[in-house]
Amino acid sequence: METHTLIDNGILKQHLIDPEICIRCNTCEATCPVNAITHDDNNYVVRADVCNGCMACISPCPTGSIDNWRAVPVARAYTIDEQFSWEELPGELAPHELVAAGGEPATEATTLQQAPEAPAEPGTQVFRSAQYGATVPPWSAAHPYTNLFPPKSPTTATVVGNFNCTEAGFESETHHVVLDFGSMPFPVLEGQSIGIIPPGTDALGKPHHARQYSVASPRNGERPGYNNLALTVKRVTVDHDGNPVRGVASNYVCDLKVGDKVQVVGPFGSSFLMPNHPRSHIVMICTGTGSAPMRAMTEWRRRLRNSGKFEGGKLMLFFGARTQQELPYFGPLQSLPKDFIDINLAFSRTPGQPKRYVQDLMRERDADLLALLRDDNSHFYVCGLKGMEEGVVMALRDIAQEAGLSWEALGAALQREGRLHLETY
Ligand code: A2P
Repeated sequence: METHTLIDNGILKQHLIDPEICIRCNTCEATCPVNAITHDDNNYVVRADVCNGCMACISPCPTGSIDNWRAVPVARAYTIDEQFSWEELPGELAPHELVAAGGEPATEATTLQQAPEAPAEPGTQVFRSAQYGATVPPWSAAHPYTNLFPPKSPTTATVVGNFNCTEAGFESETHHVVLDFGSMPFPVLEGQSIGIIPPGTDALGKPHHARQYSVASPRNGERPGYNNLALTVKRVTVDHDGNPVRGVASNYVCDLKVGDKVQVVGPFGSSFLMPNHPRSHIVMICTGTGSAPMRAMTEWRRRLRNSGKFEGGKLMLFFGARTQQELPYFGPLQSLPKDFIDINLAFSRTPGQPKRYVQDLMRERDADLLALLRDDNSHFYVCGLKGMEEGVVMALRDIAQEAGLSWEALGAALQREGRLHLETY
């Protein structure tokens, strides 16, 4: 990991996140190798005393909100509490203000300088799944458009469909929502996401922030040839600890009616993109609504296959949910041909059945995954619960190592070549 000298002459080049542009997607927090990034309900923020300027978070950020720096006297670095309260970034301090605030006059050396990497102490290496996540797309990915409508300039889409794609009659439900952009250009690729701005204001009277959702439909539209896209949105009724809570954005989206207008920003994301070359393999590992990008990729490959003009590689899906009833798209998945996609479903709360997670199924399918790990045409995508990420990457590591492959080399190659993508939240 590269680190950078952030302090020079008593002045800190402080790393900050622009709250006006940030879409609160959690990518930076998930990527940061030193846990310098945290968040509250309002903002994502950077701990000045922890950030080492390694820049690992910069390119994965879909909006560029992460790439903000301010020169401040070390003793006056913005605290995370200050940052939590911001609605916009503070301006740059003028050189005389810096001096007045206790810093030395700025010099050219205030800009980032590379410092030697601190050697890892023997025995202190911990397994960090995030370090294997690629920040570049596969070589054969199509070129994405990003930020056509940035968070300050949303466009309007019209709801043209909304249905429950989980089994009806259960407390937990996930909706498949289709938005149409009419004649407004809003091109998306499988794996990209968009932001939806709920109407109204929050408890403090401020407009709501955009909430990020992965696109669940292929590049040529949910309905082929139409300027529309689909989202997979779970109605949030409990928080992470199981306490009742009403998710503002998810309930808004799940309750949308056909004809309603929605404020949309995006598209976002330029690395979680599918390979497009013939015989390229796609291994998809997801839980819950993390299935959205997997549905998009699968459907694009299905359309290509039906066209008869494209020879796809293997598609392998590992999909986890509490029960079959809670698994989005269970019905449509059953109708996909067995020679088109290899589907492995892990249910964790089926009464009378042992708890199973996606990584358990991956280990059971070790021989097939090993063959794919050995093939440079294989691309791995992980999307869903944050807790699953480590278990999934460890399963890949163990499958490789048990066959005598070096995970150090293989994991690094997957990362470098844009062949292992992690999007967990
Ligand atoms: P669990 O029953 O233990 O919560 P959710 O419905 O909350 O979105 O979760 C989707 C699925 O992911 C559930 O089956 C859930 O199981 C499972 N899950 C939870 N933690 C992990 C983990 N660490 N690794 C893999 N799967 C997990």
